[in-house]
Formats: sequence, C-alpha cells, structure tokens
Amino acid sequence: MIKIAVFASGTGTNFEALVAHLKQSTLPIEISCLVCDHPDAQVVQKAQHDDVLVWTHQLNEFDNKHAYELAILDYLKKQSIDLIVLAGYMRILTSVLLAEYPQSILNIHPALLPAFPGRHGIEDAFAAGVKVTGVTVHYVDEGIDSGQIIAQQAVTIGENEQIETVESKIHQVEHELYFESICQVLRQKGLI
Ligand code: GRF
Repeated sequence: MIKIAVFASGTGTNFEALVAHLKQSTLPIEISCLVCDHPDAQVVQKAQHDDVLVWTHQLNEFDNKHAYELAILDYLKKQSIDLIVLAGYMRILTSVLLAEYPQSILNIHPALLPAFPGRHGIEDAFAAGVKVTGVTVHYVDEGIDSGQIIAQQAVTIGENEQIETVESKIHQVEHELYFESICQVLRQKGLI
C-alpha cells in the first residue's frame, strides 16, 4: 500500500476530494494521516470523520521550526509515509522534511505558476484582469510555489464574471487535477 500524508491548515476541500477519489478507486493508495498546524481547522474534523489519523500541533508548542519539523518527520517515519501532499498548508517547508522526501512532496496552487505565487493566487490573478488563470500542481522546494511543475489546467475568466464563480471553477479543477497528478507521480516512480 502506498501511504500518503496530507498537510493542510484550513478548510480541507482538497483533503476531502482525495479521500473521496481513493474510496472509489481500487489503486493501492491510502491517505494515512493528516498533518495540521491548527488544531481548530475544519480539515481536522473532516479527517476525524473519515477515520484518518491526525497529527495536529501548533508551531509555538516547539522551540523553533526545526524542532517542529523534526517532530513531524518522526511521526511520518513511524508510519512509513511514501508521499507528502500539501493541500492548503500555509507554511514553507525546511530542509528537515525536504531532504528526507526528495521529489516526493507535492503542492497545489490556485493559479498558473509562475504567475501569481503566494497566498492569494486567485485574488491576484482576478485583480490583474487576466482572462485565463488556472491550477498548478508542482514539487515543493525551499521557495514560495517555485518548485518544478508537474501539471497545469487552465480556467477562463469571463467578461463580467465575479470572483466567486472563478473561485468555484478553480476549486472544481483542483479536486480532479490533484488526484490525477498524484497518480501520475506514483506511476512515474514505479510505485503503482
Ligand atoms: C486551495 O485553493 C489550494 O490550491 C491552496 O489552498 C487552498 C486549500 O483549500 N494551496 P482547501 O483547504 O483544500 O479547501
């Protein structure tokens, strides 16, 4: 069984979509745990509802970020995690995790990178007046949304479209593209 750890900080719709895809699939892949830096985040309740193990601690419970990531690493190693997928995890990873999981940490971003990196990809693209934005799945490195691109899908913005419908279209694309990209990466690694 391929074991995935999802890292998330917020609502968890991507987490939910991945769990739902795997429930419908016969692939030997499981979401083994959720790592969350906000114990009160909605994604924690979603994971508990889906019987997924949860590791949730705030950074300020530890001396520094190095110690925080070492604790996460220890947890992941005990579970023999193969792949980490970030789904709205609002922290930059350090070499503690990056060195242990080379080319094995993915992120999803709600814009067509390298355009509009950072926390507000949808809002920034909308404010810039672009006619096409989209979703990017990429490997994680030390930068902000700067790792090698794995997959992208475009989303068009209509003439008088409101930001709410753009957001909704982007999230719909995310919920399909992330699962497809994870399968693509696992196939390339020869794991499935
Ligand atoms: C998504 O838009 C994702 O692209 C970004 O964070 C958001 C997380 O949403 N990295 P959710 O918590 O999965 O609903």
